[in-house]
Amino acid sequence: MLEFRTNEIKNICLIGLMGSGKSVLGRELSKYYKLDFFDTDNEIEKETNKSIETIFKDYGEAYFRKIEESVCLKVLKYSKCIISLGGGSITNLKIRNLVKKNSYSIYLKVDNNILIKRLKNSKKRPLLKNIDKKFVIEKLYNERKKFYNIANLVVENNFDKKDIISKIIIEINKI
Ligand code: S3P
Repeated sequence: MLEFRTNEIKNICLIGLMGSGKSVLGRELSKYYKLDFFDTDNEIEKETNKSIETIFKDYGEAYFRKIEESVCLKVLKYSKCIISLGGGSITNLKIRNLVKKNSYSIYLKVDNNILIKRLKNSKKRPLLKNIDKKFVIEKLYNERKKFYNIANLVVENNFDKKDIISKIIIEINKI
């Protein structure tokens, strides 16, 4: 079980672009530390009883961002969890401030070309639907990198999952 030396850190948050491995690595870390795992997109789907795709299609992105704000602010107040934050949530000032205030954040940085390959067949990401994925990923990266880089730890997630996990665990154990 993970014990933080400071009470200010409630959770470990994974941030980064779509396809950067937040959910996969988050689940692994939660198993390793025996902590609960939350994926904010899954929480949005549970709360609305709708898929992310349906929310975007029927109600639009602005509506999705509103729900995303309330769900992320709620989940970030939990304690002792591993949280995978939806890729765009960090652009929201309130979410960002709460991440900075009470979490140890990890930015999973992935080479854009690798991301584009990983996301080539993704059907569940509305922002990438019927559009040049390379263009969108590069645009989102350029808009968001300043927010992702506020993370306490930046880890390149281009290679082997096991190596990345070990690297993250070494860093978390120093907190
Ligand atoms: C989004 C990322 C997605 C999801 C939604 C919007 C974004 O989450 O929240 O499709 O704006 O980057 P993942 O990063 O978990 O794919």
